[in-house]
Amino acid sequence: MASVRLPGLVDVHVHLREPGATHKEDFESGTRAALAGGFTIVVAMPNTLPPLIDDDSLCQAEEAGAAKAVCDFGIHLGASSHNTATAYMLAERVVGLKFYLDATFGSLLLADLGDIREHFARWPKDRPILCHAEDRNLATVLLCAHLENRGVHIVHVCRQSEIECIRDAKMRGMSVTCEVAPHHLYLSHDDIHRIGPGRSEVRPRLQAPADVAALWDNMDVVDCIATDHAPHLLSEKDGSNPPPGFPGLETSLPLMLTAVHAGRLTLDDLIDKMAHQPRRIFGLPEQADTWIEVDVDAEWVVPEQGVTRCGWTPFAGMPVRGRVERVYLRGQNVFHDGFFHVEPGYGRNVRQPVS
Ligand code: DOR
Ligand code: ZN
Repeated sequence: MASVRLPGLVDVHVHLREPGATHKEDFESGTRAALAGGFTIVVAMPNTLPPLIDDDSLCQAEEAGAAKAVCDFGIHLGASSHNTATAYMLAERVVGLKFYLDATFGSLLLADLGDIREHFARWPKDRPILCHAEDRNLATVLLCAHLENRGVHIVHVCRQSEIECIRDAKMRGMSVTCEVAPHHLYLSHDDIHRIGPGRSEVRPRLQAPADVAALWDNMDVVDCIATDHAPHLLSEKDGSNPPPGFPGLETSLPLMLTAVHAGRLTLDDLIDKMAHQPRRIFGLPEQADTWIEVDVDAEWVVPEQGVTRCGWTPFAGMPVRGRVERVYLRGQNVFHDGFFHVEPGYGRNVRQPVS
């Protein structure tokens, strides 16, 4: 039993569903799942109801986070065709500006090249822009970023063609970073039958085994591991119009530690991709007196349900390595052997919310 002290993990891609869909998750249940998974900062995505695209909607998320979060948090603003002229005014209050070039859960979609270019031009150059941009859309955002002479971060890269394109862009000196989700490293087309058609809906979709292999082969190109924690109830996933998305906060560290045990990456790589790089790329603050203690050798089988409100995981039944034993957040032992010792509201917004 090897208990190892690691830095608090940082997940720059979670869907906390607040405002608008708190039956799936809210700031409290989602940040509890985060602590159980070893994360001490999570950044919430803007595809909520309403979407986070203006002062009003952002206030709703800020207030929910301030009242309920049990780990530190940030919020990403959504880029839409309605806020091209105003989004930049909210930059101080958020972590990044999220572009949806591909359709997914929620209403945010940036389809017009003019809107995309205007957002790229106006958003402060020292603040992250992150893009859901699959396949050919990846080429669009790489060119737009290049024309503005600014950086861009690509979320949930899943195809061989995408990771190779990012590798080549980096080799040419372009300022691009990317993240991969553990489900795209562990699941492929071949798992859809076993998981079930509704449950395996996710955007980007599960890809071919060759794509999964290409992600592992290009781990040196992958800057961050981010969960894309996207909780939906089982009744919704098994219903007639299954929403896309997997929960991931509680399984990502064990899955990546399992990869460390298998010799697919080193523990230092894991710490880099799950703590140091996300903090650096997204300009997130250091957290004083904050760390996690992990039994990196523990062997266990992922249960059907975890802390997340959604009540399921596509990884149920999978043997994994590594268990989070304790989490210390700003000096307080907030999670200890499965129990929480923290009040809603202890988590701090890493940016300056409106007062
Ligand atoms: O599968 C997904 N679900 N992909 C996304 O990009 C959004 C997410 C959600 O919000 O459910
Ligand atoms: Zn997402």
